[in-house]
Amino acid sequence: MKVIKSNLFVKNQVKIEKFIQPFNQKISITSDKSLSIRCVLLSSIAIGKSKIFNILESEDVLNALKIVRKIGVKFIKKKNFYEIYGVGINGFNIKKNLTLNAGNSGTLARCLPGLCSATRKNIKLIGDKSLSKRDFSRIIKPLSLFGVNIKSHNGLLPIKFLGSSFLRPINFFEDKGSAQVKTCIILSAINTPGITRIKALKSRDHTELLLKYLNYPITINKRENYDLIKLRGLNQFKSFNYHIPGDISSASFFIVLTLLSKNSKLLIKDVNLNPSRIGILKILKQMNAKIMIINKQNYKGEFIGNIKIKSTSKFKSINCPAKLNSSAIDEFLLIFLVAAKSKGISSFSNLNELNKKESPRLDIAINFLRMIGIKVTRNKDNIKIYGNPKLKLYKSFHVKNFLKDHRIFMMSVIAALTFGGNWKINDKDSINTSFPNFLKIIKKLGGKIN
Ligand code: S3P
Repeated sequence: MKVIKSNLFVKNQVKIEKFIQPFNQKISITSDKSLSIRCVLLSSIAIGKSKIFNILESEDVLNALKIVRKIGVKFIKKKNFYEIYGVGINGFNIKKNLTLNAGNSGTLARCLPGLCSATRKNIKLIGDKSLSKRDFSRIIKPLSLFGVNIKSHNGLLPIKFLGSSFLRPINFFEDKGSAQVKTCIILSAINTPGITRIKALKSRDHTELLLKYLNYPITINKRENYDLIKLRGLNQFKSFNYHIPGDISSASFFIVLTLLSKNSKLLIKDVNLNPSRIGILKILKQMNAKIMIINKQNYKGEFIGNIKIKSTSKFKSINCPAKLNSSAIDEFLLIFLVAAKSKGISSFSNLNELNKKESPRLDIAINFLRMIGIKVTRNKDNIKIYGNPKLKLYKSFHVKNFLKDHRIFMMSVIAALTFGGNWKINDKDSINTSFPNFLKIIKKLGGKIN
């Protein structure tokens, strides 16, 4: 029994013992996860057949598809698109005592109760080990105000909820800068008669842009530090066709890989460059990174373009403005790697939300940087990274116990290929949640991985 266990364990581990050699290539990146999940959810309540092209076929998105099927939405997988047969607002067909499993996906788990806020059957929502440690009180509060009967133990999964036929619109201040919470409220507002008003700290705005594109009665007033969103509920909308662009969060691993490699160049095609997502580009450019955007175009309210990256040898430290945090929230692990290689001391502040992700990413990143010999100081949610431009590793490292957080796994691979040393990194299958072909692209660029 023990032997089988350890075999399985090694199977799910990668070993990296060599620097990546210089490369000069073009790649396409996997599709945007946030948009894929939103397209599944919104097409399920549109009227009629939507066609979603280039959907991300990762575990998080497949779980979204499985869940909408369980609540009565049919879909057919075609060669390069999914046909999703929307049932209209309040059209779900839900069986008694349904349990829905969101797996690892915070976005799916937090948006779903909003989507189902008017359904009159009890639903139990569960998830994997990582999701079961995450906070749901942030959606329980606004949904209760709408009139949803929603219960949990200390804001954790499993949560049980029963929608209401007498939802009332709310005025809500979303003060975490969380797009998941904002989307949950917007979806619930769609089920609710009257006008819901949200004052939301800045966060990705794909849901609002999609609804605008669908001619849904929504207004978005962008202020410097927050957005004012107003929408009218119960307005049925028609099905739609959508082509999902590449994910900037996935592209970022290859941006930083190129920057930290020697004499390399990379072109990444068709990436979503929505201003609420490109904090990493702004931050890295301030650190001296050679990054260029070309062929930027508007697609249904989103911006899509190609990113050109060149290796950079001299990075400057940064005093990172906290107002960029939300637009770089999934990329800080990578930004920290560049800070580790920069001249001077970089500082980052208000990173509380970073510890609320698939794993406590701030804590794990600090341990990781210290493990590779980088000095890091911390004061609450603010950190300083003492960069070392000559950083080169020779020792052995083993990355484990990170709650299978896909972004910790991928960041570790980038560090191993660019900083040197002998690495063992556990939980390779974590990439299936967001970026199943990550290692294939690494190999295509010449990364040696066993
Ligand atoms: C996401 C929002 C962000 C982000 C997550 C995806 C989304 O989370 O970290 O990976 O698709 O709405 P928060 O809304 O909790 O900040």
